[in-house]
Amino acid sequence: MLRLFFSKIYSLLNALLAAIGLLAVAALTTPDLTERASLILEIVLFGVWAAYLLQLFATMVLHRATGVRDRSAVVADVLAVIVPAAAFLFVGSRDWSLFCAVWLLQPLRGSMFFRLMARVLTNEARNLVGVTTIFGIVLFAAALAAYLTERDVQPDKFGSIPLAMWWAVVTLSTTGYGDEIPQSLAGRTLAGLVMMSGIGIFALWAGILATAFYEEVRRQDFVRNWQQVAAVPLFQKLGSAALIEIVRALRPRVVPAGTVICRKGEAGDQMYFIVEGRVSVATSSPVELGSGSFFGEMALITGEPRSATVSAITEVSLLSLFSVDFQMLSSSSPEIAEIIRKTALERRGAIPHG
Ligand code: CMP
Repeated sequence: MLRLFFSKIYSLLNALLAAIGLLAVAALTTPDLTERASLILEIVLFGVWAAYLLQLFATMVLHRATGVRDRSAVVADVLAVIVPAAAFLFVGSRDWSLFCAVWLLQPLRGSMFFRLMARVLTNEARNLVGVTTIFGIVLFAAALAAYLTERDVQPDKFGSIPLAMWWAVVTLSTTGYGDEIPQSLAGRTLAGLVMMSGIGIFALWAGILATAFYEEVRRQDFVRNWQQVAAVPLFQKLGSAALIEIVRALRPRVVPAGTVICRKGEAGDQMYFIVEGRVSVATSSPVELGSGSFFGEMALITGEPRSATVSAITEVSLLSLFSVDFQMLSSSSPEIAEIIRKTALERRGAIPHG
């Protein structure tokens, strides 16, 4: 957890460094900059470059020490140092600073999101190529039709297929700059058709990417949940079909130390399994529960309010199960449901009434 925290801070600082460098690059392109301001901005760029040089050394040392290879990090670090250095040495004017734009790659370094994106693109490559081909076909056909319908009316804009291609791209992508407008009725009808095709093609692209993205996230969640469920001894009794059902039903959650997870007297619609960490149950003589235990089952079974307040002693990794899913568990794995019911009865017996 601590490692995760530091890696997040590190990524944030890295992105901040890239942002400072890129702002300096942008500022250097403004006209009428004084000599002094340019010098300050160039010093900022050198500072950022030096930080990336240090980072490259650190990455190399870390790789050698741990044996873990993160190719995206190495590529981003090498480019961040080599490209600006080569530009400074070989590009004469102040334009060398433009090559620092390679720092745009820094936020991608080790990013889970971009790895996910890369997997989505790889998985859906065939479908995306298919839609891109349709785009190409429609684009050419639209340019050809526009050439035929408009060449005599506006020869300067539609006098050849390459000229008409610009209109086709702008219309098909539904951007519509309005710099080229068909004048004839046939041309305008064509424009309407091309716009509608464009909407359909972009909807297809968006649909493919959104579905693939959702499925990839679900698959990752499933794998993570599976690992967590396997860590709870109670579920080791389950057959594979019931295990898949429960993995889908359980929702992982991490709560920091000191958090009140459920409060006495509140209504309860879910129970919790502890994957890692410890909680304290505030009964008359407080009870501690650790990895593999569960709590919150009493309200679920009896429908009564929570019998005690439960808080996290350490950071706790939990899996929560809602009452509807508990019913599902009761029918698919009566054995486990029975253990939970029995435990609830025993705990109820331990609570003084009155
Ligand atoms: P619930 O009543 O839903 O919410 C509070 C939870 O604390 C309760 O379910 C039990 O899971 C747990 N609990 C209550 N009493 C005890 C006890 N004596 N020992 C262990 N856990 C308890």
